[in-house]
Formats: sequence, structure tokens, C-alpha cells
Amino acid sequence: MYEEYFGFTKTPFKRDIDVKKLYLYEDFQELKSRLKYAIDNRLFAAVTGEVGIGKSTAIRAVVDEINPVSHKVIYISQSDMSPKSFYNEILEQLDISPSYFKPEAKRMVNKAVMDMYQHGKTPIIIIDEAHLLTEKMLEEVRFLVNFNMDSLSPLCLILVGQPELSELLSGYSMRAISQRITIRYSLKELDLQSVEDYIRTHIKAAGSSSELFTSEAIKEIHCFSAGIPRKINLICDKSLLHCFMNKTKLVDDIVVKRIIKTELEN
Ligand SMILES: Nc1ncnc2c1ncn2[C@@H]1O[C@H](COP(=O)(O)OP(=O)(O)OP(=O)(O)O)[C@@H](O)[C@H]1O
Ligand SMILES: [Mg+2]
Repeated sequence: MYEEYFGFTKTPFKRDIDVKKLYLYEDFQELKSRLKYAIDNRLFAAVTGEVGIGKSTAIRAVVDEINPVSHKVIYISQSDMSPKSFYNEILEQLDISPSYFKPEAKRMVNKAVMDMYQHGKTPIIIIDEAHLLTEKMLEEVRFLVNFNMDSLSPLCLILVGQPELSELLSGYSMRAISQRITIRYSLKELDLQSVEDYIRTHIKAAGSSSELFTSEAIKEIHCFSAGIPRKINLICDKSLLHCFMNKTKLVDDIVVKRIIKTELEN
């Protein structure tokens, strides 16, 4: 709506920001390298962080750099599924016809994983929103990493979820799965300087190099968003829209405070 007015070629602060134009802050880069390590060594990893912190975006960035010839990514985000539909979802993503029976579907997944491994291809199973997994489902996940009586690791498994995932995995009944998680990483909130750089990155990714936010405005955004990217996106987008409506070009703290007030009232 306001793109042309501000000289953008794309809408800024969107969820579909080009994966090549992401804000590559230290924490994000560290997570990416640990996930790459997990993939290269076919390990079991768990990624946690608050809602909107950038977990799925980090996964998107890692997947983008994966060689599809030597790897096969299976991405699952409906965590409320039954074990049978979980195995069948994996089969579907491998272009294998599903099975009506869970034991059969499980056997077929195991076989497909072993076949890939023997052909030098690494399956990477990513389960997003994993904090919603039931104990029953987590048990199945454990079976998945328990190949050949635990002597072999043919796949990389990445669990992604809100901080409750760590609590879930730390339960006594979860120790068998928890002990197999080699890589754990928790994404943290952005600090003030990072919020400024983050905003600049989104503006640049949308095709502009203008300084559209005053430093006072950025302080307010940092304070309200607590450094959570999705919340930063929301305030920035609404602030730009407000300026467009009022025919101004600079987002200052007065604009941001007004947007935040409306947000809090709704
Ligand atoms: N490194 C980044 N660079 C640019 N934008 C980012 C980055 N990380 C996150 N974002 C932005 O923040 C938004 C929210 O991130 P994302 O959806 O990855 O969060 P999440 O942790 O997966 O949230 P949820 O817990 O709700 O699944 C993204 O749509 C994207 O616009
Ligand atoms: Mg997500």
C-alpha cells in the first residue's frame, strides 16, 4: 500500500523476506552453524525460542544452503498428528505411497531412510512446532533415531519449538530421547543495536536505503517488542502505514508510541 510512497520495490517487514537477504546476527549465525554440524554428522538437534523469534526462518536459511543431491529435507509442522499420520507424512514427502497400518508405515519409513543412507544421501527430518508433540509422538521420534539397535545414525533429526519444548524434553520419561540430543540451541531476543540493524536489513531487502526510523523510534520499538522479530515487523509495518496516511516520511517515537497504544488497546 505504501511501497511506492517510500520508494520500496517490495513490501518490507514481511514473513516471506528473501532468504538471501535475512539479518545475519551472531546468534542466528551460530544456530545455523550448529545445525549444519548436526546435518553433516547426522545428529539429533533441538532448537527453541520464544514465539516469533525466528526459529522457522533460521531453518529456512539452513535448508536453502543444503545440497539437494546429497540431502533430502522432510519438513513437518503439524505436530498434533498421530504416529500413523506422522510416518505417512514422511512417506508422502518421499513420494512413497502411504500405508493404512502404522507398523507397516513405520517399517517403510525405516527402509526408505536406510536406502537413502546406503546411497549416500542424508535424510533431514525437521519437526517444527515440536513443543506440541504428545508423549506418544515423542516415543515414535525416539524410535526413528534408534536405528539398528542404536548402532547407526543414518539421518539428522531437528526438533524446533517454543521454550516449553526444553521443559518437555527434560521430563524423567523423556530421558531416552533427551540423552540422544547432541545439539541444543535457544535463539535469544535482539538487543537495541540489533533491532536497529534488523530494521535497516528489512528496509534494504525491500529495495530502499533510506533512514526511515529515528533512533528514538527504534528505542520504543525495542522496548515494546522485547527484541522479537515478528513484533518488530508488526510495529514497523503499522508505523510506515501511519506515516503514509499522514503524508510524512519519517517514523519518530511519537508515531511508534501511538501505534503501540493502539496495539495494547486491541
Ligand atoms: N534473521 C532474520 N532476518 C530477517 N527477518 C527475520 C529473521 N528472523 C526472523 N525474521 C522475521 O520474523 C518473522 C518471525 O520469524 P519466525 O516465523 O521464524 O519465528 P518463529 O520463532 O518460527 O515463530 P513461531 O514460534 O510462531 O513459529 C519472520 O516472518 C521474519 O519476517
Ligand atoms: Mg515457526
